[in-house]
Amino acid sequence: MKPIFRRRCLGCHSATEARAGLNLETYAGVMKGADAGDIAIPGRPGSSALYKAVAHEGDGIPRMPLNQAKIPDTEIAVIQEWIQKGVLENATSIPKGPTISNLDFKPSDLNRPPVRRSCRKVSRSSAFRSPPVRTR
Ligand code: HEC
Repeated sequence: MKPIFRRRCLGCHSATEARAGLNLETYAGVMKGADAGDIAIPGRPGSSALYKAVAHEGDGIPRMPLNQAKIPDTEIAVIQEWIQKGVLENATSIPKGPTISNLDFKPSDLNRPPVRRSCRKVSRSSAFRSPPVRTR
């Protein structure tokens, strides 16, 4: 998300230039939203001003970036998926709200938690030691 915001939005929505009261520079800023209210509702891109603004699907939501061409569809899709999957701060965050609104959900690598590898150490000597032999 950060590279998209940095490239397309921070000129008008940063800490120093927060048009509409919106600062997209930090996660906290995104969660705080704009003067008009929340911009990203976890699991509901279609109801989120952030998605509607960039997809130009807003009823009453200004089209972003303001007075410029729509951003590429691939970037709109990233924003949509990010909201759909719960507006997570980073790859290991736990969703705060419902994130699956239909059964077409397909996991992608974007927000998959890291694979946990077993870290039990097996020393060479114990691994190759033969079982005790019973002698009667
Ligand atoms: C050239 C300046 C400019 C750029 C670039 C820009 N914005 Fe905005 N943005 C504005 C202004 C000004 C408003 C307030 C417009 C209004 O209320 O009519 C606004 C409003 C918004 C709102 C509406 C909040 C609400 O609920 O009404 C959202 C969401 C938003 N911008 C997101 C973005 C995103 C995401 C990007 C980057 C893809 C972006 N903007 C790029 C100037 C800009």
